[in-house]
Amino acid sequence: MPANLLTDAFFDSFDSSLGGLDTAETLPPACYTDPAFYELEKEALFDREWLCVGREDWVKEPGDFFTTHIVGEPLLVARARDGVVRAMSSVCQHRAMLVAEGKGNARGFVCPYHHWVYGLDGRLVNAPAMDRTCGFDKKKIRLPELKLENWLGFLFVNFDPNAAPLAPRLAKVAEAIAGYDLAKAESAQTMTGQFAWNWKVMFENNNDGYHASKLHAGPLHDFVPSELATFPPSDPTDAGFLRFNATLHPDASFNPTQRAVLPVFPKLTQEDRGRMTFANVPPTLSLVLSSDLVIYLILRATGPETMEQDTGLLVAPGAMADPAFPHRLEMIMTSAGKIIAQDMHVDSLVQVGLRSRFATRGRYSWQEGAQGQFNHWLTPRYRAAWAARKARTAVKETA
Ligand code: FES
Ligand SMILES: [Fe+2]
Repeated sequence: MPANLLTDAFFDSFDSSLGGLDTAETLPPACYTDPAFYELEKEALFDREWLCVGREDWVKEPGDFFTTHIVGEPLLVARARDGVVRAMSSVCQHRAMLVAEGKGNARGFVCPYHHWVYGLDGRLVNAPAMDRTCGFDKKKIRLPELKLENWLGFLFVNFDPNAAPLAPRLAKVAEAIAGYDLAKAESAQTMTGQFAWNWKVMFENNNDGYHASKLHAGPLHDFVPSELATFPPSDPTDAGFLRFNATLHPDASFNPTQRAVLPVFPKLTQEDRGRMTFANVPPTLSLVLSSDLVIYLILRATGPETMEQDTGLLVAPGAMADPAFPHRLEMIMTSAGKIIAQDMHVDSLVQVGLRSRFATRGRYSWQEGAQGQFNHWLTPRYRAAWAARKARTAVKETA
């Protein structure tokens, strides 16, 4: 990789990833591998965009909490006695130990190191043997709180205290998936995994209508053919975008019967039931919506070539009351697991390919409309961060 990868010419070259899919080419491979680009990406995306960290129903009761992390920042989400859910840094304001790990229910958070005690709302409520410390006022200390927004039951945080609200920029996506009533959907299962590829490789795989009929050819996927993919237009100011993929029969579901085996989300329209919907809220949330199951991916970049992901399942309210539910779900997950394994195999080898000297800026099929929208979303953000960095450097040099 050239030492001076980040130049005006590099960012100018992103022009060829814009425009229509008939002329566009993919982003430079270095965007998926280069540590310096990853640092810029933090400034461009992760420091300012809304980042999904979990579901509100992970913290149903007062005292419920979970921990997570994104781009190296350890976070704690807790529901306090007042019922309010807050997102906070989990970094102790004494000497930086993390005050919580994992998830559970707690009355507060006792830092294991020296037993400073924080309330569920993040305020420091006790700090032993600090009575001789001049000017120490525990009332002025708390775990730093982040902006938090609940969108359809998904909790998003933002490191930018001045960030504009998320929901208005997701209006088109929310309208397209309104029938799933996701705020009321129930969490059936969540799994967490680590992966050795760039977060955009994962995101783009889930965006991709083109590979459906090729990589996944066979009876578990043929009813969602690539040629029935459509991509509703989005604006780069939107916080998300969509792929609809019509299916060869209604209520298609990834299991050997090819049809829903769990209760169908009750408010779906006939149109909803005749397609699968893929909703993308970069850089952290990707949804696969079928009539009886919604799979959500919460992506967490952990480095230029690594990421972590929570994969969760949402079902219609009451679906889990059926004693046969675990067996029905198993039917889907056994099949979906085979499809996901195909995707993972590709993702891991795409990352190897992206590192190669022979990796190039490829061309798109019309069935890759969401990739084009993703590039239109990414590029202005990358360019703005590059311009801001150059402006900071110029100020330093004149100072
Ligand atoms: S680091 Fe937490 S109490 Fe000392
Ligand atoms: Fe796939």
